[in-house]
Amino acid sequence: MKSIKVGILGLGTVGGGTANVLQRNAAEITRRAGRDIEVIIASVRDLTRERRCDCSSLHLTTDPAEVVNHPDVDIVVELIGGETQAKDLVLQAIDNGKHVVTANKALIALHGNEIFAAAQEEGVSVLFEAAVAGGISIIKSIREGMAGNRIDLVAGIINGTGNFILTEMRDKGRPFAEVLTEAQALGYAEADPTFDVEGIDAAHKLTILASIAFGIPLQFENVYTEGISELSLTDVAYAEELGYRIKHLGIAKADASGVELRVHPTLIPAKRLIANVNGVMNAVMVRGDAVGNTLHYGAGAGAEPTASAVVADIVDVARTITADPHSRVPHLAFQPDALANLPIKAQDEFKCAYYLRFEVNDVAGVMSQLSAQFADQDISIEAITQKEPQPGDDFVSVIFITQRTLEGRVDRAIKRIEAMQDVRCKTVKIRVEHLN
Ligand code: NDP
Ligand code: HSE
Repeated sequence: MKSIKVGILGLGTVGGGTANVLQRNAAEITRRAGRDIEVIIASVRDLTRERRCDCSSLHLTTDPAEVVNHPDVDIVVELIGGETQAKDLVLQAIDNGKHVVTANKALIALHGNEIFAAAQEEGVSVLFEAAVAGGISIIKSIREGMAGNRIDLVAGIINGTGNFILTEMRDKGRPFAEVLTEAQALGYAEADPTFDVEGIDAAHKLTILASIAFGIPLQFENVYTEGISELSLTDVAYAEELGYRIKHLGIAKADASGVELRVHPTLIPAKRLIANVNGVMNAVMVRGDAVGNTLHYGAGAGAEPTASAVVADIVDVARTITADPHSRVPHLAFQPDALANLPIKAQDEFKCAYYLRFEVNDVAGVMSQLSAQFADQDISIEAITQKEPQPGDDFVSVIFITQRTLEGRVDRAIKRIEAMQDVRCKTVKIRVEHLN
């Protein structure tokens, strides 16, 4: 049978890894796909740059249009990143009747609705397994493996760079900036690393996961997003003392009243499996009414783990290339005309527990004044700790862990507490998820 011809846009970390995996495992991949898969062309910015893959059997160009317009290319693999040029190239490829595989979560989260509509019209596939959680087949698992379930929770560590930074800070006390530089050198970070540390990359991924899990349109603009750049080692240590670990989570929850979409640092009981996912590893918990809790674990970034997901998508396209477009797995798991516009909850409607740290003057009666504010808002307290003042400090830290409550109530209590004379500065608020 005729081989499947692939054109790759971008031969950097993921593109180079993809070309390597396709070459190294060619025989095994052919056995799975039923056809040979051949990379015939790739585009880069700089032809003189050293490549991590053998480019001798393919045509290397600086013109990406050559790839998407190449008459022999069946599958265009977009691995340049960014959104504007990537979107134009992907739409051009679709218009030319080519199937597309991409690892670009920003592209899918921001422009996926338009891209999938165009692909549907052309009868081509757009696959994006590598866009979420690197090498973990989380999209396939939710879209296909859990197709019989009503899913109400997806929660996970979905940014490898952020988890690598948090792990190194906690385990080795290394400074934030130094660990970020290492993550960049290892090829984990985005071209703009603020996407990793400010939670934007995780929000892109959560947008995709929520859409597939709940059957809702992609809506990045509705994801509440906090990064890890404001986290202090003090809170990391206090959380540990209280039996928790701080992880940066993406959380999508659905109930009868709507959907919560949020990305933020979160305290998790230290004994949970997900609290022990370290370094660049990712883990995604998905809860379905039939299967119960599932946990999906693996490398969240890096050349070959990501290439593993890209190549799996290429094989999927190769297998379905002869199938009728209407019989293929829908891009967003649900049929395009069956997507539901569920209401998205505002931040004050979020419901979880909270770690709150106040810095207060060390005078009698402060603790009861703080407690009274929580009682006023009908917030139950799980634990209270007062820390000894640090040498040189004339204030003490008081930490409350609340029971599950509405964020609006917590924010009202914080506002009143921060107005008190004996309260020193801005409150540290970190959400707590018990995930049980
Ligand atoms: P790199 O920066 O390592 O590679 C980008 C490649 O695209 C390079 O080969 C570059 O060329 C080429 N390129 C960039 N801009 C242009 C342009 N305007 N025209 C032509 N070629 C261009 O990025 P990554 O491989 O890390 O990431 C690629 C995509 O994969 C991104 O969407 C990223 O979010 C996603 N991703 C990355 C993961 C990772 O672990 N790194 C994991 C999962 C997804 P040149 O080499 O000449 O500079
Ligand atoms: N920068 C991303 C991360 C790459 O660190 O998770 C994988 O999507």
